[in-house]
Amino acid sequence: MEKTTLGPQALLYPMPAALIGAQVDGKPNYMTAAWCAIAALKPPSVAVAIRRSRYTLKGVREQGTFSVNVPSSTMAKEADYCGLYSGKNRDKSRLFTAFYGELKTAPLITECPLNLECKAIHFLDLGSHTLVAGEIMQTYISGDCLTDGNVDPGRIDPLIFISGASKYHRLGDEIAPAFAIGKD
Ligand SMILES: Cc1cc2nc3c(=O)[nH]c(=O)nc-3n(C[C@H](O)[C@H](O)[C@H](O)COP(=O)(O)O)c2cc1C
Repeated sequence: MEKTTLGPQALLYPMPAALIGAQVDGKPNYMTAAWCAIAALKPPSVAVAIRRSRYTLKGVREQGTFSVNVPSSTMAKEADYCGLYSGKNRDKSRLFTAFYGELKTAPLITECPLNLECKAIHFLDLGSHTLVAGEIMQTYISGDCLTDGNVDPGRIDPLIFISGASKYHRLGDEIAPAFAIGKD
């Protein structure tokens, strides 16, 4: 297969459309982040790439806490809004119903089916963005996203971001069992 070079690009598929919550200037603020991923299992950790100019980053640095909230596909409009407008000039604090967990200063979004409450543990300057590593201190899941007591991703129905095309998607079909099909 012939390949075409594109130059260095921040291209990876798919990406989440997570909502990062932080307490900034005494109020909850939320920004959309596609550059967000699980980074370690022990301790459970996430990494989020946040541009230095983001209002959210100010709160993460000041409080040392933040939240990662997974919106369902029905929340595309709200997620896009949080990615279009900065809390510097728009009050996003009442867009969602915030709740607080054990860390007390990381606003979590009730309307999002999955929430990770995080303590910021590292800030790594990577140029345009700061990679914020956070230890997940608590995980919250909406009751209706459990099937037989287990997390059911189909019920979470996570919002997915497709970069390049700049579109939101939802989960597609199941293809095969993981950690299994490769054995055949
Ligand atoms: C789909 C989508 C994904 C985004 N991903 C990121 C990201 O990973 N990192 C980042 O710094 N900004 C990202 N942004 C941009 C911020 O969400 C946006 O600048 C936002 O207004 C910042 O809000 P704040 O200034 O209140 O923190 C994304 C925006 C959209 C719409």
